[in-house]
Amino acid sequence: MGENSVYFFKEGATMTGRVIIVTGANTGIGYAAAQNLCEGGNDVILACRNEEKGKAAVEQILKKHPNALATFMQLDLADMASIRKFVEDFHETGKKLNVLINNAGVYMLQKQWTKDNFEMTVGTNHLGPFLLTHLLLDDLKKTASEAGEARIINVTSSLHDRALKIRKAPEMLSTEDFFLDKEGAYTPEQSYRNSKLCNVLMTQSLSKQLDGTGVTCNCVCPGMVKDTELMRQAGAVKRFFLKYFANTLMKLRIRSIPAHSLEEGGRCLVDLSINEEQKGVTGKFFSNFEEKKSSDDSLDEELQKNVYELSARYCHLEGYEPLDAPAPPPQEEKPKSKRKSKKAKAVDETEIEDKGGEKKDGEEKKDALNTSDGIQFADADTSKLEEGKKDLEEKTGEKVETTEDEPKVDEKGDADKPKELEPEDKEIKKTDDAVVIETQAEVTAQ
Ligand SMILES: NC(=O)c1ccc[n+]([C@@H]2O[C@H](COP(=O)([O-])OP(=O)(O)OC[C@H]3O[C@@H](n4cnc5c(N)ncnc54)[C@H](OP(=O)(O)O)[C@@H]3O)[C@@H](O)[C@H]2O)c1
Repeated sequence: MGENSVYFFKEGATMTGRVIIVTGANTGIGYAAAQNLCEGGNDVILACRNEEKGKAAVEQILKKHPNALATFMQLDLADMASIRKFVEDFHETGKKLNVLINNAGVYMLQKQWTKDNFEMTVGTNHLGPFLLTHLLLDDLKKTASEAGEARIINVTSSLHDRALKIRKAPEMLSTEDFFLDKEGAYTPEQSYRNSKLCNVLMTQSLSKQLDGTGVTCNCVCPGMVKDTELMRQAGAVKRFFLKYFANTLMKLRIRSIPAHSLEEGGRCLVDLSINEEQKGVTGKFFSNFEEKKSSDDSLDEELQKNVYELSARYCHLEGYEPLDAPAPPPQEEKPKSKRKSKKAKAVDETEIEDKGGEKKDGEEKKDALNTSDGIQFADADTSKLEEGKKDLEEKTGEKVETTEDEPKVDEKGDADKPKELEPEDKEIKKTDDAVVIETQAEVTAQ
């Protein structure tokens, strides 16, 4: 298959009857993929951290397809013990394993830690799937030896590429400061980026390691999928603004931005998992329904090796010297007020000027992006949102209404409550923030 060749969805060319584990399948892209795979006659294990949400997702699938083979199994990727228990439970089912889809992911807005003291984003998005995959490798190899193949799909993001700058150039991933503990190193964007780069690095390392076993390993960016809960931590006002901002950018046609529906996002995963066309394809990165070259960092063999070894040590894999992450610092109570002082605002403005942010004719669109990208913006104070709102109103000539949609964004204001999964024929609740991350990254990369 040539670079950038389109491979997606050849009718009738899919495999059925496979046992497929999908992590984070209770909502978002994972749920869409799980449902689609069930419809295709596969035995799908929805590996979810929350039992109530996981079982609700299974019920939802069974309601539509009473004969579907959908099962919930508990898995918390932010807890190494839970991952080991999940694999034990899976072995007890006596099932073979054809496909593992590492889909679950988080976008944290504040630094937090997993049970094993890993920084939460890298811990959940990379180290958890790293351990899970390695504990299931023998199962996949066995299936491949009997059935001719088995597959691993890692869900990454185009944002793994440092070339996609948002406001300021991201730092290079460092194995010396893997959890971004050095002063000023941690930002939500940097940790998400690093975790998604690790997904691609792991894909590269594993595909080489598995050469000749029949087990393939690829990664995929599902594109901008608006209707997911990835940015659930952002407050309603911020999310509303981000949604408006994203939609406005799309309307302005700054660039043809590939935004996918939830179903299409799920299908990106589905086709890589079961399409006959993909048999034997390994070590590739797919994005927007095409095979693409992944970032330069992801192809750096030294980095691949270092990240692999470090991850194997943190995960206590056999054959590697175990390494434990240091205990996190004691949590400080955050002051409640979200308003910034005049002094802090002045610092912000100086920072913009220092980065050559002075407005010139014809540069407004770019400048607006530079000062309000999705990730940084999600972390910004509400006064900045108001400024940005006014700015957008001036540029687009449209009134920004913030009251209409706000309550719908997070109806009960509780991100931990299970989301009611809606039937396909109803409009699904939209939280477009993840789109903004991708959109603005792509736009600023131009
Ligand atoms: N949406 C986009 O535009 C976009 C773009 C590029 C890449 N992606 C990637 O696509 C994947 C799916 O994201 P999404 O947009 O569908 O987000 P989502 O709606 O928030 O779904 C994420 C899923 O991961 C699960 N999860 C989170 N932490 C977990 C843990 N510790 N253990 C097990 N499961 C856990 C969540 O479970 P709970 O519901 O219990 O939290 C949820 O089921 C992620 O890897 C994301 O990085 C998304």
